[in-house]
Amino acid sequence: MIKYAIIGTGWITVSMIQGIHDVCPQKMSLGGVYSRSDDQAKRFIAQLKERGAVPEDLSIKIFTDLDRLAEDPEIQAVYIASPNRFHYEQSEKMLLAGKHVLCEKPIALKEENLGRLIELAEKKRLVYLEAIMMLHQPQLEKLKEAAGRLGNIFTAHIDFSQLSSKYPAYLAGKNPNIFNPAFGTGAFEDLGIYGIYFIMEMFGYPEKALMQSRFLESGADRSGEALLCYQGKDVTFSFSKVGQNRSCSQIIGDEATLTIESISQLTGITLFAKDGSQEEIYGEESKPVLMGREADTFADLISGALPLSRMRELQEKALKVCRLMEEMRKTAGIFFPFEEGERDAV
Ligand SMILES: NC(=O)c1ccc[n+]([C@@H]2O[C@H](COP(=O)([O-])OP(=O)(O)OC[C@H]3O[C@@H](n4cnc5c(N)ncnc54)[C@H](OP(=O)(O)O)[C@@H]3O)[C@@H](O)[C@H]2O)c1
Repeated sequence: MIKYAIIGTGWITVSMIQGIHDVCPQKMSLGGVYSRSDDQAKRFIAQLKERGAVPEDLSIKIFTDLDRLAEDPEIQAVYIASPNRFHYEQSEKMLLAGKHVLCEKPIALKEENLGRLIELAEKKRLVYLEAIMMLHQPQLEKLKEAAGRLGNIFTAHIDFSQLSSKYPAYLAGKNPNIFNPAFGTGAFEDLGIYGIYFIMEMFGYPEKALMQSRFLESGADRSGEALLCYQGKDVTFSFSKVGQNRSCSQIIGDEATLTIESISQLTGITLFAKDGSQEEIYGEESKPVLMGREADTFADLISGALPLSRMRELQEKALKVCRLMEEMRKTAGIFFPFEEGERDAV
């Protein structure tokens, strides 16, 4: 049983812990909670017990100092779900201390930094993964098989527009992390990354990629439109944190069309043949189960049930996505305040 700790006590961490409970409770057990506040950690643990995401009698250590967590010999692995800006330094600290790390997306905003962390994990013989649910779902293969039945694909329209629950707070003059560029956030790093992973899985690295972003007064990008060009086909990708998509993404071939309701979860996938007949490729799935499957891969890599070549394949994908996103950010003028001098360099 792998004893793990978490960093960051937002709703996404609750989903992950619930997912581990639902999918692989025999492989991972929560041993520690890090929060900046002792009270918040206690509330968080009470919430987990109340919803049955961990056993009532489970003993969970509380850490309010990251160094104490890093030094704890009982904790073997860490799930990091803090704001993006902290992913690099928290990953580095945990890897240096010998912990396996599953880190929320994006691990890094620059390929160079991601590469450095992957090298560090390799040197320390640790498992290190970016938390991207779609890569661990059985429906990914089903989607790819279905895409093989579309005939010639000349176009695809991908959208990930999700109205943020934090937008009203932003409009009310507060400064939520997700709309504060000081945390390395904004629509492209938060939602765009899913679209880029999806597009790379389906079509590979584009020959050319352009993007136009729109910004809030805070400086965070609120939405964007991208064009990714390939030999013989073009893919459009739009995303927004200030409006909700009520339709589907589509991959359009001359024999059939695939519609996908959620490109991050790979759910609601339907194939429409030329005659209009429909076939469901994949239905709905709960978010904790989707997240539990990525934790399951993480646990299997740690135990050796999955070969390390699988981890390297996932890391290679993460590096390519990071490289493309870095290129696209430049075309759209997305820079973060901690990237001193970057804007001038372009
Ligand atoms: N996989 C997915 O579907 C999914 C969904 C949502 C988010 N995410 C990712 O999860 C990560 C967290 O997102 P979120 O929306 O939960 O972020 P958030 O609410 O801004 O922060 C998450 C946690 O980090 C800690 N934190 C907040 N502000 C901090 C600060 N100034 N300094 C240090 N720690 C701070 C807080 O925990 P304490 O108060 O306990 O310290 C907070 O609960 C992001 O990287 C995001 O991309 C993934």
